[in-house]
Amino acid sequence: MALKRSLLVPLLVFLVAALTLLATLLMILPGPQQGASKVPIGGPFRLTSHEGKVFTEEDLKGKPFAVFFGFTHCPEVCPTTLYDLTQDLQTLGSDADKLRVAFITVDPAQDTPELLKTYLGSFDPRIVGLTGTEEQIAEVAKAYKIYYRKVPTDSGYTMDHSATIFLMDSKGEFYGTSNFQESQDVRRSKLKQLIKNG
Ligand code: NI
Repeated sequence: MALKRSLLVPLLVFLVAALTLLATLLMILPGPQQGASKVPIGGPFRLTSHEGKVFTEEDLKGKPFAVFFGFTHCPEVCPTTLYDLTQDLQTLGSDADKLRVAFITVDPAQDTPELLKTYLGSFDPRIVGLTGTEEQIAEVAKAYKIYYRKVPTDSGYTMDHSATIFLMDSKGEFYGTSNFQESQDVRRSKLKQLIKNG
């Protein structure tokens, strides 16, 4: 009994000391920080705008931006997405100027800067259309990890492609995604969050 008690006290002292040390370490050591683990989506690219000018990721950075991939001959998803984003930009009011929107073609063979310009004439003028060589498009598609593929049809071909809208922060880091299947409310609150985040 005496022996046990003599062991118990140092043991308790040790435990208290160990717990104090642990608590201190937990307070000092950096915990998992939000945004610390960057998602490897996005990155450098070099394309041509619908105005025929060289356009790189640096032209998007400085403001948060939304980017998505498609093509002007897309029957449904692309025009729907562009229409939705046009409505969103109008609803955002002055906040819309804190955001950039880019539409990158996956069909550069057909989508020249001129065609993109004509096509985008039906949508919000702040949406930038981007095209390039097959290699430049392949490179930017790879950076954003999107899928696209030419599919032969009776009248020629169409393009299969990912319909993700990438939401990127002002530094060009991945922030989140949306897509045409999401409700207007959800998409708009995401865009507002993106603008707020900066
Ligand atoms: Ni499309």
